[in-house]
Amino acid sequence: MSDGEVFPVPKAWAQKAHMDAAGYEAAVAEVETNPDAFWTKVAGRLDWMTPFTQVKDVSFEKEDFHIRWFADGVLNVSVNCLDRHIAERGDQPAILWESDDGLMARFTYREALAEVCRIANVLKAKGVKKGDRVTIYLPMIPAAAFCMLACARIGAIHSVIFGGFSPDSIAGRIQDCDSRIVITADEGLRGGKIVPLKRNVDEALKSCPQVTDVIVVRRTKADVPMTEGRDAFLPDLKQGVSDVCEPEPMNAEDPLFILYTSGSTGKPKGVLHTTGGYLAWAAYTHELVFDYRPGEVFWCTADVGWVTGHSYVVYGPLANAGTSLMFEGVPNYPDHSRFWEVIDKYKVEIFYTAPTAIRALMREGDEPVLKTSRKSLRLLGTVGEPINPEAWLWYHRVVGEGRCPIVDTYWQTETGACLASPLPGAHPTKPGSCAKPMPGVKFQLVEADGAVITGAASGNLCITDSWPGQMRTVYGDDQRFFDTYFSTYPGKYFTGDGCRRDEDGYYWITGRVDDVINVSGHRLGTAEIESALVGNENVAEAAVVGYPHDIKGQGVYAYVTLKADVHPTDILEAELKGWVRREIGPFAAPDVVQFAPGLPKTRSGKIMRRILRKIAENDLGNLGDTTTLADPAVVEDLVKNRHGA
Ligand code: WTA
Repeated sequence: MSDGEVFPVPKAWAQKAHMDAAGYEAAVAEVETNPDAFWTKVAGRLDWMTPFTQVKDVSFEKEDFHIRWFADGVLNVSVNCLDRHIAERGDQPAILWESDDGLMARFTYREALAEVCRIANVLKAKGVKKGDRVTIYLPMIPAAAFCMLACARIGAIHSVIFGGFSPDSIAGRIQDCDSRIVITADEGLRGGKIVPLKRNVDEALKSCPQVTDVIVVRRTKADVPMTEGRDAFLPDLKQGVSDVCEPEPMNAEDPLFILYTSGSTGKPKGVLHTTGGYLAWAAYTHELVFDYRPGEVFWCTADVGWVTGHSYVVYGPLANAGTSLMFEGVPNYPDHSRFWEVIDKYKVEIFYTAPTAIRALMREGDEPVLKTSRKSLRLLGTVGEPINPEAWLWYHRVVGEGRCPIVDTYWQTETGACLASPLPGAHPTKPGSCAKPMPGVKFQLVEADGAVITGAASGNLCITDSWPGQMRTVYGDDQRFFDTYFSTYPGKYFTGDGCRRDEDGYYWITGRVDDVINVSGHRLGTAEIESALVGNENVAEAAVVGYPHDIKGQGVYAYVTLKADVHPTDILEAELKGWVRREIGPFAAPDVVQFAPGLPKTRSGKIMRRILRKIAENDLGNLGDTTTLADPAVVEDLVKNRHGA
């Protein structure tokens, strides 16, 4: 199979990048021959209060399952992200902020440290201690980063919830980690629209009686209801509070944060990341993949509510003494030039966004891009979903004028930071391929039955050994952690992704092989959407699958069986879409609702999702064997009444 155009490493990059092709090969070899020396260098980039003597202590085997890195070392994440840069870079911006409505703010490292300490002291005054969980539900404002770092400073575990989630989703997450403190804002602002954050929290807290304190950041200064004795505004709480706060010494394996993510079954999992390994991996990959040097203006457009925002808006860039741009807005407001204008305004050198945004902007043509300069740019990145070659080429030719390498970074919430990406000084790029694994990450392709695949072929992507940024457990559920990731292929971490390896050993992620879908770069479990749908009084049964969508990558296709006395109508269709928006969040709303008198099931009652996927994809010639179905006629009806049929 031909994979189209290959873009060589530009000569200047090969010469000056942190890692060139030979360096990459040497690093990969060192992991084999002298792993402790390799990993000690990776973690040696951090400042340790007590240096570690143990490096890797891991077993993926069931009998002796454990994952520990640098386990006797002691450090503090906020010290690594702030204090240690003050002497040389106290006046350098740590965070730049572009608001939805075009306002600008900047915080130097000195200012950021002072603010983080004040918030840390506010939390302490509220009784927050090491190991306590703090929920953060904030818009893309600098305070979000400061609150995360304030938790890290005192050893509290943050759980950031994306501002697009509904009250129900917030409540579930607060309950799961038993968080007593919630930090939110009066309102958010996105694309000129108000997001009622405080009201959403109020609604959520009706089912979270354990929450004692809500700290409210002022964003729009709107009048919001405040509950006496529970709610207080952050500016009031900060009055007279010291801007010095001693950092809590943390063991490398102490938890840093929980981040909820969707799986193929059940409710979202609280992915737990720890202090030393996570930070080392976020910082190492940020430097390597983006060829980052301190002080360069780095813009990752991800929201801090997702893992990309954690690792490449906050922790990676700040650990590397970077200048990180936070953007509150959306790519198409006030118009389709917004991204490119912001790049010019802040002289952004490295720009990192999602394929879905690139596809949406590509649709608007070249003109909104070409009317901006973009001459500050030197590197482009993508993350979150496979990028189609057409979008890659547009990004390369039009946005990057053919002079900026593109790093297509493949990773997951579970992996902490990047797993595979071309390194701009080492790897020629192929549109749509994430090239090679990071040094230290050991990919393996396997057949469904676990047989190892070698050479150029496709299979399920596993990782055979640990890396420091790997998640440590599902919060409160070690068994679920093991079962989800290590039981399908014993002794290996299973990513849940399908993948192809080509003749050059390049990897091409083909998408999830489980019931997780990726909608506009947002990860969703089909089971979660189904469970929301059946929560509606009209719905008897629902099955949700993904289907290819030009802009979103995947769209949400919901098959819904109504209760016996309910009739399908357009109004009901719209109601169900709105229902999911409210139950989970706007980004989860089905693109298509097809009413179905029955769903295809095996005789044992299992829904045949393969068939539903094919119908949604309009791949009707490949429905496969339907004779094992309890009622084969169901499929005919589904095909006949397919949306767009
Ligand atoms: C998908 C986001 C192809 C993949 C960092 C993975 C990708 C899931 C890429 C994780 C990429 C992420 N190419 N697919 N470059 N990056 N994915 O947890 O299916 O939100 O398993 O983490 O996104 O999504 P998550």
